[in-house]
Order: sequence, then structure tokens, then C-alpha cells
Amino acid sequence: MNDYKIKRKDFLKYSVAPFALTLLPTTFLSACESNSESDKKSGNVFSPDIEVELTAHPAAVSILPGSKTNVWKYTGKVIKGNNDSIQNFEDSYIGPAFRVKKGERIRIIFKNEIDESTIVHWHGLHVPPEMDGHPKNVIEKGEEYVYEFEVMDRAGVYWFHPHPHDKTGPQVYSGLAGLFIITDDEEIKLNLPSGEDEIPLIIQDRTFDSDNQLVYLNSPMERMTGFLGEKIVVNGKINFSLDLDSKTYRLRLLNGSNSRIYKLAWSDGTPLTVIGTDGGLLEKPVKRDYLTFGPAERFDIIADFSGKKQGAIVRLVSLPFPSQVSGMGGMMGRGRMGMMQRGDNDLPEMGDELNLLSINIINKVTNNFILPAEISSFEELNTNNAVNINSPRRFNFGMGGHMRWTINNKTFEMDSVAEWEKVKLNTTEIWEFVNGAGSRGMMGGMMEMPHPVHIHNVQFKIINRTYNGNSDNIWDAFKDGFIDDGWKDSFLLLPGTSTQVLLRFKDYSGIYLYHCHNLEHEDMGMMRNYLIEL
Ligand code: C2O
Ligand code: CU
Ligand code: CU
Repeated sequence: MNDYKIKRKDFLKYSVAPFALTLLPTTFLSACESNSESDKKSGNVFSPDIEVELTAHPAAVSILPGSKTNVWKYTGKVIKGNNDSIQNFEDSYIGPAFRVKKGERIRIIFKNEIDESTIVHWHGLHVPPEMDGHPKNVIEKGEEYVYEFEVMDRAGVYWFHPHPHDKTGPQVYSGLAGLFIITDDEEIKLNLPSGEDEIPLIIQDRTFDSDNQLVYLNSPMERMTGFLGEKIVVNGKINFSLDLDSKTYRLRLLNGSNSRIYKLAWSDGTPLTVIGTDGGLLEKPVKRDYLTFGPAERFDIIADFSGKKQGAIVRLVSLPFPSQVSGMGGMMGRGRMGMMQRGDNDLPEMGDELNLLSINIINKVTNNFILPAEISSFEELNTNNAVNINSPRRFNFGMGGHMRWTINNKTFEMDSVAEWEKVKLNTTEIWEFVNGAGSRGMMGGMMEMPHPVHIHNVQFKIINRTYNGNSDNIWDAFKDGFIDDGWKDSFLLLPGTSTQVLLRFKDYSGIYLYHCHNLEHEDMGMMRNYLIEL
């Protein structure tokens, strides 16, 4: 049934991808025209530039002093091609980071060595449906799944993580997440800080028991609101700090938390300089006093420490915001009900001020970097070309019946799509996401929470965000921290707001997901398929 799902012992037999010709993008096909007729007949046209073995496996890593923490992690190994295509993080559950160039063809042989079924999803990448890590493609322990695709996305930070139905939250929490960093010629010309001066930062939160083991979801209420950890973990480490020089760095941030939202800022009040978001570089740098950072979003930041003295310490923090943002109208509280008895006093609630990481300026050096005023150029989608400009598709994210998080009152169905989830290949559409319209039944507004909306397979443009007046303090706390200038695959849909996005379906037809990236919401079924029809 599924040609990619093969048992280890069958692996040598596997050589043909019979559907490759129909699925590969035209750009790839034309690049392959020189392939021999016999190759074409066998369908054996995929010759990768890079081949990687990626394994999900149990491990024990040091996070806190004392006992090691049992985790699941991905380990990557380059089998063919440039060895720098994979960067493993040392003694950490996080990673690895893929480093590839747009246009490269990559084969990833994924091996499952954990005790649950799983599958890998390439978050933000434009790949054929069979390569996207749909939960129906999960493999069991001991099995392999072979991914083959051409890297078609713009230079930027993308990422990957498990995507089995109703176990994505716990599997990501156990440690399974890595980066997929793409470069391209446009980016290379900019001479942005690179090598040691380019620093990936994956921000997460975790709770540990007295033996340093991970604790996940303490109460049914936390399952409903989303997991919030007691400690901030950056790149798999607590109390994360960097020793840097007084010059310019490029920080590549991923909010890899299951549900926590951050209000990112520099502790000294310097505005943040952003050069890229989910789908790569912006046209021009943008400055903000703070950034609204929802789960799964990425920010590409230029940090200039040239004005800092030797010995200076700068912290990246999350500013306080109204705790009501964790939902339940404040009544049922702040996301960690039922945990009071633990008696720990360093439990950060949603909205508490947090230190994310510290930067110690060790050496005074001369700084030669000048940030270009123009960073990238790209073709804009035109709203007027949307086939549904007069009647955007509407997706209502909210609490449905039976206290479940739903999309248009529906939860996930593995194999089906509704009529309103079918789109046509090679069309542009407007999708409107609404949080808090309708479904104000008995529980009413009490069950409004922010939903980090994510759509697979596409990078889209945010056309507008509209606030409809129900949740002033939440809107005010976050509204100046959005960056909607570039391409996005995930955005935070605040309570009492709606957001219209413009998206184009190209190259591949088939089934893809869209969902809430609060992973507990997703696991509860706040996820649906959409179908791109020929
Ligand atoms: Cu990052 Cu469907 O997910
Ligand atoms: Cu995704
Ligand atoms: Cu949600």
C-alpha cells in the first residue's frame, strides 16, 4: 500500500519509486531530462545529492545536575554528500540541524527505534503529500520510511518533528525535534553572520521530577489548555547562556514548545531586529520592541552587541502578559490547575516574566558587519487573483461540543476531507481563521484560548488580523509583536480575532493537514485534512 513504508529486511530490495514521475515538481523533472530511457521506465530517477540516515531512539542526556534524563531523540548521519549537511547537538535531546541548499535533492532514511509508532513531518517545507509525514503513514518500531524530495523552499529555518495522531505532544515533549535550515544564492550574497556567529536557538519548556525525569501533563485541565513546563530549556539545556564577543550575530529562533507563548524582548530594552520569519528572509529588516512568539513559529534575528562592554550581560526574556491568555477566562486558571500540591514555587504560568537565555560579552572586538537595507525580494501573491475573493473559506477554531477543541466543530478524521476542505491545484485562495465566533454556548467565552494555526505544504501571506473586541488585554499585550511582512506557515490566532491569509496551491495534489500547533490541542483532534484536487 505504502511504498515508502518498508521493513528493514526489505530495504535492499527497495529501489524504485514508481510514482516519482507523477509527484516530482516540474523543475525537478526538467533537471532530470538527461536521465536514460531505462531509468525513466523503471521510475528510478531520484539520485540524491545528499543521503541521510535519521533515527529516532531512546537516549539519556544531561539536562539538570545529577541523574541523566531519559529522552527520545533523533540522530542523523550523512551517508552520501556533504558531511556538514547534518549538525548534531552534543549531549542534548534536540536536533539534529539539517543544513541544505535550495535545489538539492535529499533522501532521508528514517528509522524508528522507539516503542511507539511515529512518522517525521518537515514543518514548513513544500514536499509531496507522501513525504509530508501524515499520521496515516506512521511506522512501527523497527521499520523504516524513506523520504525523497527536492528542497524547494527559500532560505530560512524550518524544522521537523513527529506527527502520529494523538501522540505528537508527548513525542515532541520526549525530545523529538530538529531543525531544517535552508540556504540559497540570494542569502549567500548577503554575507550574514555565519559559522560560529550563526546560532540556532530552540526554546522549549519542560517539567522534571525529583529524579530529573520528564513529567508530562499532570491533569485533565492541562491536557485541555496545553502543556506548560516549569523550566525553560534552550537547545535542550536549562539556564542556557552563551559567551560571545561584542559584535553582530545571527540568532535563529524556533519556539519548539508544546503550547507556551513567549513575548520576546531584550532585557536592556533594545528593539529586536528581525530579518526573517517562518518562510525565510523578509524584504527589509524590521524592528520591534517585542515579538509575539507562538508555538512552531521562527524568527531570524540580527543581534548587534557592538555597543556592549566586556563583561556585559544581555538576556533574552519573555515579557509578562495577562495570564488570562491561557484561557478559561481566568476562572479555571492559568493552565496548571491541579499542580499546586507539588509545592514547587518556580512554576512559570503562561504570562509570567521569564529569562530565556543570557549572553555574556566576553571579548571586546571590532565589528565589521553592516546589515543591508534590502535583504531579499520575492513575488507577492495578489489578493485579486484569489478564486474566492468574494467568499473566503472560513475556519472557526474553538471549543466544540463535548469540551473538545475543534475546527468548524469537527475533529480530526484520518482519511476524510469535508467538501469545504477541497481546493484546486494552481489556484490562489483566501482562508479566514476565526477564534471565538459562534459556539459561545454555556461555556461561552470561557473556553477561548490562543490557537497557533499551522497549514502544511504552503507558505502563505497574512493579509490582515482583525480584532473584534472581546479580549482587550490579550490583544493589547500582543498586537505590536506580529511580523506579517514575510512568508508564514504558522501564526498565533488570538481569542476574539480573525486572520485572513492568502495562499497558493502548487506543484502537488493530494491530502495535507492544517491544525492547531498547541500540540495538546492537536492531539485532542484540533486538526483536519485538506485536499488539493487536480
Ligand atoms: Cu509542525 Cu503539522 O506540524
Ligand atoms: Cu507542518
Ligand atoms: Cu489550539
